[in-house]
Amino acid sequence: MMFSRHCAALGLLALCLLGWPGSPQGAPPAEWSQIPTHTVKLFYPGNGGYQWLRDPDHKRAYKQVLEGESCTGCHEGEEQDIGDLIVSGKRLEPDPIPGKKGSLDLHVQVAYDADNAYFRFQWDTQMDRPGQMHNYMRYDGEKWEFYGGPRSSGKVRSGEQPAVYEDRLAIMVDDGSVPMFKEQGCWLTCHTGMRDMPEEASKSAVKSHPVLGESGLEKSDVRKYLPSTRSDETASWDKVKSPQEVARIKAAGGFVDLMQWRAHRSNPVGMADDGYVLEYRLFDAGKSPFSWNVDRKTMTPKYMFDAAKVGVKSITVADIGDPSKPYAIIREGNAALYDPNAGWKADDVLPGRLLSRADAKGSAADNNEVKGECEGWHLDRRVDAQNEHRPPAGRQDPGRGRGLHVRLRGA
Ligand code: HEC
Repeated sequence: MMFSRHCAALGLLALCLLGWPGSPQGAPPAEWSQIPTHTVKLFYPGNGGYQWLRDPDHKRAYKQVLEGESCTGCHEGEEQDIGDLIVSGKRLEPDPIPGKKGSLDLHVQVAYDADNAYFRFQWDTQMDRPGQMHNYMRYDGEKWEFYGGPRSSGKVRSGEQPAVYEDRLAIMVDDGSVPMFKEQGCWLTCHTGMRDMPEEASKSAVKSHPVLGESGLEKSDVRKYLPSTRSDETASWDKVKSPQEVARIKAAGGFVDLMQWRAHRSNPVGMADDGYVLEYRLFDAGKSPFSWNVDRKTMTPKYMFDAAKVGVKSITVADIGDPSKPYAIIREGNAALYDPNAGWKADDVLPGRLLSRADAKGSAADNNEVKGECEGWHLDRRVDAQNEHRPPAGRQDPGRGRGLHVRLRGA
């Protein structure tokens, strides 16, 4: 991923949902220009997380943060300065990425009707091309290997591999039930011990953990979680409450939805993925729009492009980022079964991910009216007010205030 640190949080802003005139039932606004635009300054968060914010190193602030004071209460208007400071490596970022922007403007429009909320996000990407590529594989003359990666990875930093990573937009939203989410947002979900964060937990420690590891969720690293799922005061990664207690928190609405629009793994099939954060960062039940296009035993692709439909069986290294070339394999759209004898040449490239709208199922496939276009990116999406996890009635009390938090990633 592009941020070397995991919680690329931001936005620190709870948005009000705005009504808009003359909306037909169940349809997005015909004229987005009539909907007011909020511009939110997103900044690079480095590896500051829940525990750092409550540590005396967060000078003159940690006590207030413990009490639940909002981040914007002290930092509104400082986003650009904070982002520049962190991205420079002078604060909260031991491993800065040269040339990376410290902040960017996200233009947000929101409308709703009885059934849905409609979001439009617009921003300028840092690259001069859309980040539509992800987990690509290159043929080296003998075998297929993963190619490229995020700019934070060692291989890309050393120049051995190119920066190849999808642009992404993620939002987290709660219904007012998650303590402090309205005030402190996704900063609640990012912790010491997580992947790429300080004191990262070892694989073996996670695998042997009774809830997260092999006898539970079968994870080998720690991802986002909410403090309410931990039993100690500092919300340590390994002090997970019992599955029964976590289930009770979920049933009471105490989780945040996490939806991610992915320029490679979901946009080509008009979707965004649908997940949530509770004791871990998890997908909703069902099947998301993407899976692997790699047979892990043989390390060969499962599908190639259907040349009868798109003119080529693969692209090449030189084609990466060329908007006139196909860039994503869609099972029901442009895919043919991989043929090992198709005359592969060095520098042939195929996506390591397989997309399918037809195969996506259940709650994980809920966000299915999403459209992203690149002139910079510019994204419209629709989110159902109903969600699998939400108790059906009584939770949508507008008086309680919701938190909505946005995050961007790119190569
Ligand atoms: C009571 C006011 C206050 C609150 C509330 C507060 N901060 Fe701070 N924060 C500060 C001050 C003051 C500093 C500078 C500390 C220093 O000089 O070392 C700071 C520093 C930071 C920094 C490091 C960058 C820098 O300029 O030193 C980050 C990142 C940060 N805060 C994020 C947050 C987030 C996220 C929240 C909400 C969870 C938050 N802060 C809540 C006052 C506050």
